[in-house]
Amino acid sequence: MSRIEPSTNEMLDHARALLTSGRLVAIPTETVYGLAANAWDASAVRKIFSVKNRPPNNPLIVHVASLDRVVDAVRMPLAKPIESQLAAVSDLWPGPLTVVLPRGERIPDIVTAGNQTVAVRIPSHPVTLSLLNRCPFPLAAPSANRSNYVSPTTAAHCEDGLDDTVAMILDGGPCDYGVESTIVRLHESGPRLLRPGGVAAEVLAERFGLSVDTLMEVSANRQATKQLEAPGMMSQHYSPTTAVQLLYPGTTIVVPKNTGRIAFQKLADEEVSRYTVVEVLSESGDLEQVAKRLFAALRQLDQAQLTCIHIDTCSPRGIGRAIMDRLERAAAKSSEF
Ligand code: TXA
Ligand code: MG
Repeated sequence: MSRIEPSTNEMLDHARALLTSGRLVAIPTETVYGLAANAWDASAVRKIFSVKNRPPNNPLIVHVASLDRVVDAVRMPLAKPIESQLAAVSDLWPGPLTVVLPRGERIPDIVTAGNQTVAVRIPSHPVTLSLLNRCPFPLAAPSANRSNYVSPTTAAHCEDGLDDTVAMILDGGPCDYGVESTIVRLHESGPRLLRPGGVAAEVLAERFGLSVDTLMEVSANRQATKQLEAPGMMSQHYSPTTAVQLLYPGTTIVVPKNTGRIAFQKLADEEVSRYTVVEVLSESGDLEQVAKRLFAALRQLDQAQLTCIHIDTCSPRGIGRAIMDRLERAAAKSSEF
């Protein structure tokens, strides 16, 4: 029996009741669907880790309804430099931005994987905002997929691979962004980007008065610490089961038999004929459109019994940075073998 429910007032009240009693509910956000539990309830949050098969060292994002409610997750008052960093970006909320701040007392260890920081965001999807406004507690919610698989961007995707520990899936339609939120750590030593996402790194860098490189701290020795700080960001995340090959410009590609293609724009007929199946994400190559449809296409082609999936690439700027980050992770698995 399907657990997908329309997001009526009645169902939102039911979702609140389920969450209050420690159950899990899949929720729509503007980025991807999340798998939510009461963030103050350690035993409810534990169910998220077990249903996703998520390693306990990978902390969760806590979702709150408004700036006033950030205090439900974060230790206040903030140190002055952190307060002004937050002020520089808080008008991007509600939206696809997550900030890492000092953790408040009510947030149990399991949410932050024992870290003294907590990741918080105010999502902009009206269904989830309405649910958050009904709940007296914040919602801890990772993406509603099994650990290491592709994030869900429709309610139907949430049914795949998650057992009936998930009491309800609230349908909010296909997600607008289709890639996860941008994560930025705010710190007295300066802000630092931990994951590119729906808000462009260029926008954040400008707000902080920094270069993108400084915000990302791209030097090699920083990469090692970066992994410790956002443990979910190991390569191989987001991997489909089928091998993935990225099509960088200028490389000649042999197309093996039974290969699928995810194209960012319309292809010539001759190119189409080399593939078993072709998904065009945007007729005109619009990257917002590409991001929005990418994960659904990955899931679809992953179920088509193909030998390999070829995927277009783009330059890593704006939303293109998040697209390339996810694609390189999806391809990492294949290139290891
Ligand atoms: O768009 C999104 O962010 C979606 C929707 C549902 O909100 N959520 C999402 O959650 O992508 P998840 O669990 O798939 O990714 C959360 C990332 C992980 O890489 C995790 O390591 C990082 O956030 N994270 C969580 N808490 C952290 C913390 N205290 N410090 C550093 N990174 C943290
Ligand atoms: Mg995830």
